[in-house]
Amino acid sequence: MNIDETIRSIDEMVERALQELSDAQDESEVEAVRVALLGRKGTLTAVLRGIGDLPDDAKPAIGSAGGRAKKTVTEGIDEAMRRVTAPATGGDPTFDPTLPGRTPSLGRSHPVAVVMDEIVNILMQLGFTVAEGPEIETDFYNFEALNFPPDHPARDMQDSYYVTDDLVLRTHTSPVQIRLMEVAQPPIRSIMPGRVYRNEVVSAKSLNFFNQVEGLYVDKGVSLADLKGELEEFCHRFFGSDVSIRLRPSFFPFTEPSCEMDVSCVICGGGGCRVCKSTGWLEIGGAGMVDPNVFEAVGYDPEIYAGYAFGLGVERPAMIKYGVDDIRLFYENDVRFLAQF
Ligand code: FA5
Repeated sequence: MNIDETIRSIDEMVERALQELSDAQDESEVEAVRVALLGRKGTLTAVLRGIGDLPDDAKPAIGSAGGRAKKTVTEGIDEAMRRVTAPATGGDPTFDPTLPGRTPSLGRSHPVAVVMDEIVNILMQLGFTVAEGPEIETDFYNFEALNFPPDHPARDMQDSYYVTDDLVLRTHTSPVQIRLMEVAQPPIRSIMPGRVYRNEVVSAKSLNFFNQVEGLYVDKGVSLADLKGELEEFCHRFFGSDVSIRLRPSFFPFTEPSCEMDVSCVICGGGGCRVCKSTGWLEIGGAGMVDPNVFEAVGYDPEIYAGYAFGLGVERPAMIKYGVDDIRLFYENDVRFLAQF
């Protein structure tokens, strides 16, 4: 008899059995493997039974191969049995594996953060770098250097949140313009995103805490036409190429001339509706040419340099873009609302 060949066929039998065990999906398939090898008429049982009848020189080698095979197959059966029974019950007899599963819900970015990122990304594509400033500002940066007269209503406690007599929660992102111009020389082309605070009555259109993105471009020969072109390009990229923009005369102490920026109502297409109060236009920010007094306060020569500045809201453009008619929804944190974005 060929001892090596017999051992090889025992090994192959074990290998096949292990493969079948790893493919087995349930207890009956595992049991079928056990019966086929180790049952009364099993193939491995037959090998083990026949050892006694083997020639003496073959008994030790085939005997130990058979013993090893039985051990390996028995362990494989136990392991497969544990596998096919465990996931169904998890060891808990009350667990019902036939019930539908619960899909884990994924977290997501807040819509205001998404819109803020989008605004910043578009402006960065237009060549603006990003600068930041503190949310608690001195009276100097928030008002004085921006040419606010001492009796301006925004300086009143009724309109702004004061931390001390001289420190205020910034009411806009414009003070970052001053901080930037104090440490840098033109050309400057920067945006300044961040949170701002106003002591205002909260309503469907107004919050007492919101976000703005300030923009500042200072160089020789900058004109109002540059401002308009830039804002138009921004609006087309943010709202879509079919919106129009218009600059409406306005007043800010730190720009001259000053304007408010409107986009044609994305809801009615400019025809007039409830959201735009039948005007066909929606306001998204303020802007203007930097006032020479501001340049003087930071040591720039207004005879040499000119610049424009703008301050966009974030929540109001977000309302317009997504057709949200109440700004407070953004901060009520109702997951059913937030999950739509
Ligand atoms: C300013 O804050 C100026 N600093 C903007 C500016 C910058 C003008 C640079 C000139 C040069 P205004 O108060 O209009 O301007 O606010 C700008 C934008 O912030 C508004 O158009 C609006 O989109 C948003 N905003 C203002 N008040 C609120 C509020 N209470 N709730 C939500 N968004 C607001």
